[in-house]
Amino acid sequence: MIVMGGSASGRIAEGIGKELGIPVANCEFRRFPDGEGYIRILDDISKEDYVIAVQTTYPDSNIVELFIMHDAIMEWTKNAKIITVVPYMGYSRQDKIFLDGEAISARAILHHIELYSDAMIFVDLHSSKILEFTTKRSYECTAMEVIAEYFKDKGIDFVLSPDKGAIERARKVALNMGLEYDYLEKTRIDGTTVKMRAKNLDVNGKRVLIVDDIISTGGTIIKATESLKASGATEVYAVCTHGLYTNNALEHLRPVLNGIYSTDTIESETSVISVAKPISDAIREIIGGI
Ligand code: R5P
Repeated sequence: MIVMGGSASGRIAEGIGKELGIPVANCEFRRFPDGEGYIRILDDISKEDYVIAVQTTYPDSNIVELFIMHDAIMEWTKNAKIITVVPYMGYSRQDKIFLDGEAISARAILHHIELYSDAMIFVDLHSSKILEFTTKRSYECTAMEVIAEYFKDKGIDFVLSPDKGAIERARKVALNMGLEYDYLEKTRIDGTTVKMRAKNLDVNGKRVLIVDDIISTGGTIIKATESLKASGATEVYAVCTHGLYTNNALEHLRPVLNGIYSTDTIESETSVISVAKPISDAIREIIGGI
């Protein structure tokens, strides 16, 4: 078995290699002058039984790279089983038709990923329901345990989910840390604006950790922080699995937060927590049953 990371997910591939004690394939990645991607696997993988291909499918160029990785693996191994790991699944938020004429983009991307995959692993999907679009063996793991582990000795008193949809995630973190948790009622007005219903939170004098799956524009976290401060929280930290940080979100978030953290599903300056362990556990489980 060998693991191969795409250019968006090299760190996680290294981590999986260490966790499972398997080699990481050396690959060459470059771009042609017209911007098209090129990859070449530099190690002989022809005798491998399993190849773990790891690639976040965001932004778009990384989706194409994953398809090329699949092709290179198939070309060289013929009979190997391919387990595709997608740490952050781009397009997962368009998981249903909101207006006539739209696509279910999550389904479209998933169908292409599954073409050459014997099994697939995802991390904290925006909605697990998208897995109903595939018949291939698929597994969703969560970063919540590694997030809880990271914050265990950091003096947090309370965990908050910024909306009802993410309450399960906040609950997992809170339970693992032995803390209380609550959630806010969020209404999304448009892609960049959210409204939070005022709520009395029991956070007076407390250090609060907001837990979310994605931070994109940062609007959700900023509104949640305002509610927490209004309820007397002394310090507010935010952590997410997938730090997208669109529209210069970090510049807006840093001044209002005491700290901002994410996992390495999208590599950035905040990605200090690795999801290599939960992914490796999922691989062990799949190999037992593939
Ligand atoms: C929404 O349901 C998600 O869990 C996140 O809260 C959302 O994607 C964050 O987006 P933004 O940072 O743009 O408010």
